[in-house]
Amino acid sequence: MTLVSRPPRTGAATEDGLMPGFGNEFATEALPGALPIGMNSPQKAPYGLYAEQFSGTAFTVPRKEARRTWLYRIRPSAAHRAFRRIAQGQLCGPLAEPNPNRLRWDPLPIPEEPTDFVAGLVTMGANAPAEALSGVTVHVYRANRSMERVFMDSDGELLLVPQQGRLLLATECGRLEVAPGEIALIPCGMKFRVELPEGPARGYVAENHGAALRLPDLGPIGANGLANPRDFLVPAAWFEDRDEPTELVVKFQGTLWATTLDHSPLDVVAWHGNNVPCKYDTARFNTINTVSYDHPDPSIFTVLTSPTAVPGVANMDFVIFPPRWMVAENTFRPPWFHRNVMNECMGLVHGVYDAKAEGFAPGGLSLHPRMSAHGPDAATTEKAINADLKPHKIEGTLAFMFETSQVIRPTRFAMECAQLQKSYDACWDGLPKSFTGAR
Ligand SMILES: [Fe+2]
Repeated sequence: MTLVSRPPRTGAATEDGLMPGFGNEFATEALPGALPIGMNSPQKAPYGLYAEQFSGTAFTVPRKEARRTWLYRIRPSAAHRAFRRIAQGQLCGPLAEPNPNRLRWDPLPIPEEPTDFVAGLVTMGANAPAEALSGVTVHVYRANRSMERVFMDSDGELLLVPQQGRLLLATECGRLEVAPGEIALIPCGMKFRVELPEGPARGYVAENHGAALRLPDLGPIGANGLANPRDFLVPAAWFEDRDEPTELVVKFQGTLWATTLDHSPLDVVAWHGNNVPCKYDTARFNTINTVSYDHPDPSIFTVLTSPTAVPGVANMDFVIFPPRWMVAENTFRPPWFHRNVMNECMGLVHGVYDAKAEGFAPGGLSLHPRMSAHGPDAATTEKAINADLKPHKIEGTLAFMFETSQVIRPTRFAMECAQLQKSYDACWDGLPKSFTGAR
């Protein structure tokens, strides 16, 4: 049959049997003939499967916005008993009062007690209440063992940014391995299990409650550049036919609930659609930068964006600061001093961020709310003013930013934890008065 997009057997982009593209209409089956041809819901689906539509947008949105996937599964998702509230640790804890200060945290340690991905989620901040259909919640995950349960987030799309340790994401649509340097997107409501093939893991999560993340428009950049669509990889269909008790945990309006199924819910044998998980290797990012003068606005580093109804104002942008050449002439090359209307939540996967000489560690986090003044620290500033401006390559680093239009309020946990740096402001001490126009 020609309907199914079978993964090519060769080619770097699909070496793991993944399908390339972003926002495509994919079609895939783990058993031959499992995907119905020419219709979505036949009277009798192949292999005795149940057809189930999984929607990510309202049915009536414009076609270019529509996201849905048809799943052909061993049991329908409806076959479950009532959910019960369960403990949720530091997930979605209470928010502290809005805080105009620049804040920075050291990495949260990975727990020593057995902790899976869900148990190890710590919410650091949020810019909307749990019931809102916009905004972003920022979490950090720390885990030291694979999940033996399955998780589903009803509150938002998940953008995972691993910082330490590979993740194997077993999702309803198939399996994705994601390593530090790569990112993964999981649609709102998709069931998945996080396994740790290499031991302890830590990373960042942006839970996007607004419009689904998509590639930004390129404007004058043209038809190519930044994150190219074919570098996003979507899993081929995979399933487990496992009749044993399996806990399904659901995040709903900021609270955790669970039920025990008598089977694995990762039982989708075939699917087609565009509401799918994917991964992306940030090393594939086509970084745009100046070849004349001045540091451009960081919007040139946008990988994905969640728009609002206001053109150009993002609910959230995901921006990376990858290795790149710096060649600007007669220019202060680090990110300039600035005060922005947008809110910046930054993380560091590895290496050193070029605006901070020290104190911003891999796994750490910073929060710069709207109109807070920030920029390179004193040591970086002095070095940049006196630098010999030869072409210079920034290497061995990956910083990123969740940039949001609404103010992110830290959680009480974030404001009270030992990792909050009490002296972050001091990194701007020692900026000398170098004014030479005194009378
Ligand atoms: Fe900034």
